[in-house]
Amino acid sequence: MRFSSLQVPPMMLVFLIATVSAIPNATLMYDNGGWIECIRLRWTGDILLPYTNATLLLNFTGTHPFTGFTGIAEIQPDFFALFSGNFLTNGGLPVLGVGSWGVWTIDFRGRGALPPVATFIQQVPASVFFLGASRFDDHTVLIADGGQGLLYRMNLQTGAYTIVVQGDPSMDRHGGLAGIHGVHFQAPYVYYSNTFGIGFWKWLVSPSGVPIDLPVEISTMANASKDRPEEFVMWIDGSTYMPIQAGGIQKIAANGTASAFLNVQEPTTCTVGRTLADWDVLYIANKYGKVYREPHLLL
Ligand SMILES: *[C@@H]1O[C@H](CO)[C@@H](O)[C@H](O)[C@H]1NC(C)=O
Ligand SMILES: *[C@@H]1O[C@H](CO)[C@@H](O)[C@H](O)[C@H]1NC(C)=O
Ligand SMILES: *[C@@H]1O[C@H](CO)[C@@H](O)[C@H](O)[C@H]1NC(C)=O
Ligand SMILES: *[C@@H]1O[C@H](CO)[C@@H](O)[C@H](O)[C@H]1NC(C)=O
Ligand SMILES: *[C@@H]1O[C@H](CO)[C@@H](O)[C@H](O)[C@H]1NC(C)=O
Repeated sequence: MRFSSLQVPPMMLVFLIATVSAIPNATLMYDNGGWIECIRLRWTGDILLPYTNATLLLNFTGTHPFTGFTGIAEIQPDFFALFSGNFLTNGGLPVLGVGSWGVWTIDFRGRGALPPVATFIQQVPASVFFLGASRFDDHTVLIADGGQGLLYRMNLQTGAYTIVVQGDPSMDRHGGLAGIHGVHFQAPYVYYSNTFGIGFWKWLVSPSGVPIDLPVEISTMANASKDRPEEFVMWIDGSTYMPIQAGGIQKIAANGTASAFLNVQEPTTCTVGRTLADWDVLYIANKYGKVYREPHLLL
């Protein structure tokens, strides 16, 4: 049966309009202040919240010569890489500690209720603002530098690191700060987002992580007041959930088509659940230290 628009019963029309126009609001689940740039979940369901303004990640705390944490990625099951450095806001724009950024491993394996084992791996004197993190292989993390258009790769056993990408025009197409925020390696592509450079890209890499050819733009972004992308998550159906600095989450289909998905206050990062109960739940955090969840709307 086929309806022309005039034949659609009024009740159904109301339903259709409501379905199309109602972009859901995220549900606030945790609000303890501070500023969060990146999040991940453990298999247990625990949310790991690296605070930029406190040397606190779940129970890993203490006095350190830096102000807080940013990027986090699971490298092996329950074994994470975490970035630390100086990020001071004093209520205004962040002041970044150039050269202060370094990499830790946080090992929950076999610890039960004890705090994880935290090991400092390496500081990088040329760093400006380590931000997004991604597993590359069992011993290697990709490091996005949000203060310059640089992608590093570090071996977590030796601390040795190399620059994977530097000075590519995709890092700064609009004259903004050429920094990467989110990075995800999903062989054979490295996916990354530039907040101030405004872009969402993928780059084909060799098995050893060397970029091949030129990066490809996934979704056209150009408007600095509504398009600045932050740290994203990629879903099993090939779509990407992209936090937008001004507010909200965009769903970007594999073909690059973007649509508004969720209303949420100025998100910096999002990730998906890990347990049977929340495998399709989107978790979101922001620079006000708020953590939100979106109940079961991914499919
Ligand atoms: C989202 O929140 C706003 C402001 O509180 C409200 O006006 C709107 O109806 C909400 N949207 C939905 C879909 O619940
Ligand atoms: C810093 O982070 C902590 C979370 O550990 C938060 O409770 C606190 O309010 C933050 N302080 C400021 C000044 O934002
Ligand atoms: C963290 O600390 C809380 C309270 O002390 C404790 O209940 C919890 O088991 C700890 N978690 C980890 C992973 O150490
Ligand atoms: C950019 O986005 C803003 C906010 O949505 C809008 O007001 C403005 O017209 C857009 N600019 C262009 C050039 O599309
Ligand atoms: C892109 O993918 C979306 C979601 O699968 C679909 O709705 C849309 O029609 C596609 N657009 C194009 C131009 O192929």
